[in-house]
Amino acid sequence: MTKKRKKLIESSEGSRRKEEHLDLSLNGDVENGGLSPGFENYRFIHQALPELNFDSIDTGINIFGRKLSAPLMISPITGGTMGGGRLNIRLAELAQKKNIAMGIGSQRIAIEDGSFEESFKVRKTAPDILLFANLGAVQLNHGFGPEQCKRAVDMIEADALMLHLNPMQEVFQDGGDHDFSNLAKKIAGICKKVQFPVIVREVGFGISADAAKMLAGAGVAGIDVGGAGGTSWIKIESSRSKDPVLKNISKSFMDWGIPTAESLEMVSGVSSSIKIIASGGIRTGLDVAKAIALGADIAGAALPILRASTGSAGEAEDFIDEIIMGLKVAMFGIGASNILGLKNNKYLVKKDRAHK
Ligand SMILES: Cc1cc2nc3c(=O)[nH]c(=O)nc-3n(C[C@H](O)[C@H](O)[C@H](O)COP(=O)(O)O)c2cc1C
Repeated sequence: MTKKRKKLIESSEGSRRKEEHLDLSLNGDVENGGLSPGFENYRFIHQALPELNFDSIDTGINIFGRKLSAPLMISPITGGTMGGGRLNIRLAELAQKKNIAMGIGSQRIAIEDGSFEESFKVRKTAPDILLFANLGAVQLNHGFGPEQCKRAVDMIEADALMLHLNPMQEVFQDGGDHDFSNLAKKIAGICKKVQFPVIVREVGFGISADAAKMLAGAGVAGIDVGGAGGTSWIKIESSRSKDPVLKNISKSFMDWGIPTAESLEMVSGVSSSIKIIASGGIRTGLDVAKAIALGADIAGAALPILRASTGSAGEAEDFIDEIIMGLKVAMFGIGASNILGLKNNKYLVKKDRAHK
């Protein structure tokens, strides 16, 4: 078989896989394998004297060269299919309207076959947003390097690149990639050779303190903890799998991963120069407030935005408005007038301590 034909077959398989991921995420039970994101273990100490006017609370932030109205990101979801392309435009319209960040789904398919590029291009729809390109870090073991990373960023006129780490997803995927060796060194090589910020993210199993230290050493500009407790890739891949052994094993791994709140605690102390993104099971404005108080600079959500975007008109916008309102209410309750005040506040405690 010629190389070109092999790539075409792989591309159509990739496209089919993406369609199945979307379909299962929209219609299946894919959340919360056996863990929660862990935010319920924390509580803010209420301040009866917040000493501020609710209406003057500012949720704006500056990050990666853009000013956002709120510390929020539509996490990477899709591209590479017709439906995915349409969805990306809808998500980009939402991000532009609300002035929040957006990550695009993995562009590997479009790097390998240019005919898929169009489904990722959202810059015309969202000229002002903080936009992240996306590739799987494991592709660095399959011939991808600085050139492919630059192409991914240029393709969509992104502000930065997200490289995702998904070893558990791949190992539970029929025919998934198993070679995650030497990636820290290769990520360091990318960080050195490209001009844009590189953010490394998990997709739902969390980043440990040791992994964060390796990433800091590699020179990443940001870490998205992508913790456990939200969308479960073991649930998604095991329900797609035709392998009875993998299906069986998956049952004992449902509570694998570091809950998002725990991962934030682990990662936030590692380096003051690295931006931290909280994602994995972020569902409310209070989750966002707790994530920021735990050290995040911005929080992302995928599944609820995906579902709302394919629901009734205005549903996704209402979801974002509700998140921002919840965030503001939490800020009011502890007297934080802006995001820096929320990040540096001393009022978030673990629940057992809050009871004393
Ligand atoms: C259908 C679907 C496709 C996804 N594709 C990607 C992807 O291509 N690249 C990536 O980095 N993350 C991808 N993710 C992971 C999300 O960005 C996010 O990290 C994960 O779903 C956990 O967040 P949640 O609990 O808010 O859904 C995808 C998620 C969903 C639901």
